[in-house]
Amino acid sequence: MSYKVKDLSLAEKGARLIEWASAHMPVLNRIAERFKREKPLEGIKIGCCLHVTKETAVLVKTLMAGGAEVALSGSNPLSTKDEVASALVEEGVHVYAWRGQSEKEYYECINRVIDFGPMLVHDDGADLIATLHSERRNVASKIICGFEETTTGVIRLKAMEREGVLIFPIIAVNDARSKRLFDNRYGTGQSTIDGIIRATNMLLAGRTVVVCGYGWCGRGIAMRARGMGANVIVVEVDPVKALEAVMDGYRVMPLTEAAKIGDIFITATGCTKVIRKEHMLLMKDGAILANSGHFNVEIWIPDLEEISISKRKVKPCVDEYTLKDGRKLYLLGEGRLVNLVCADGHPPQVMDMSFANQALCAEYAVKNADKLEKKVHLVPDEVDLTVAKLKLETMGVKIDQLTEEQRKYLASWKLGT
Ligand SMILES: NC(=O)c1ccc[n+]([C@@H]2O[C@H](COP(=O)([O-])OP(=O)(O)OC[C@H]3O[C@@H](n4cnc5c(N)ncnc54)[C@H](O)[C@@H]3O)[C@@H](O)[C@H]2O)c1
Repeated sequence: MSYKVKDLSLAEKGARLIEWASAHMPVLNRIAERFKREKPLEGIKIGCCLHVTKETAVLVKTLMAGGAEVALSGSNPLSTKDEVASALVEEGVHVYAWRGQSEKEYYECINRVIDFGPMLVHDDGADLIATLHSERRNVASKIICGFEETTTGVIRLKAMEREGVLIFPIIAVNDARSKRLFDNRYGTGQSTIDGIIRATNMLLAGRTVVVCGYGWCGRGIAMRARGMGANVIVVEVDPVKALEAVMDGYRVMPLTEAAKIGDIFITATGCTKVIRKEHMLLMKDGAILANSGHFNVEIWIPDLEEISISKRKVKPCVDEYTLKDGRKLYLLGEGRLVNLVCADGHPPQVMDMSFANQALCAEYAVKNADKLEKKVHLVPDEVDLTVAKLKLETMGVKIDQLTEEQRKYLASWKLGT
């Protein structure tokens, strides 16, 4: 077996962390129990490019319970938990991941996963799938299906679909209702605030927090920041989302205005160069900048470097930039996903649903391999609803059922007043 991780002696610590996550992921555990009996992934090689966290480990173990052999690289140079990577090696996974990779090392690890010859690929951000469609097309032609975990990855893959370049079908796991409404909103909401607090230990009550992007992640971040007593300002480019933020009770304004009054800035847009030089130059002394969007391009770091005369690390995860006039701005986690770099990422309860979708989509793709076109597909309703039902069941929550009469009423156009 081949692998490359930081330190194998961390494996025992990692195993305990995985146990902890697993104890809070009942849906995935139920799927794993069924997979153990039915082996729907027997003989399937799976390549994953995912944040190497304890929750991801529970997904990987579920895929293995189904009979798969798995190779794994990290989906961000800074998000790998080294203990977990080592524990997974002990479990027989081909892991190529450690925290603090250079860009070259990051892509080397992705290429090692491709060398493994995967038949299914689980991606987060589409770097693995994009590499397969550029330098590694010979391997891509043998892939049954790919699965994408995040909004930014789905945006990239839909661009590939529009250009007609997809070599294999994709299922947009991110877009499942039982994923996006919970993972992106409650998961990112809580863990982003967690990352900022762990990195800075700052009080949020009474501070002005500027949230850029009021999509699924932004809504969650704004909601949780307000819950901690912050005054929240939302910055948007979409008039409908902006209106929603206004009616949710937030102040909405352009970033050039918000820049002057914010204490903490959080980006979650999936866009590039959202916070630029012209905004940074307006910020108050001591302003904190954090990003929760997928790539480290939302806070434009080259601009921050350009307007600064010096930079130093004041705490792990906190870089202090001193501007020419002496003002200081603080960048968290090098502008990468603050919840994964400065904290533990999403809580297991929420990853339970996201990764249940991943596991069930893998099974679905193997069963329907000949029917799937080379397009970006939605998660099948049967999978989406199964995940929601199982989650409710494991939480002990019961819901109502439509009566036959109600079902007919909802399907008919003939009944009105
Ligand atoms: N940190 C995490 O763990 C985590 C989890 C899920 C998603 N993500 C990432 O977070 C990002 C957002 O995901 P989402 O699901 O909320 O997407 P979304 O499409 O629901 O929301 C993005 C919002 O940003 C707005 N926006 C775009 N460009 C903007 C700009 N220049 N200024 C202000 N607003 C702008 C859009 O109008 C939209 O409302 C993506 O990169 C996604 O991959 C991160």
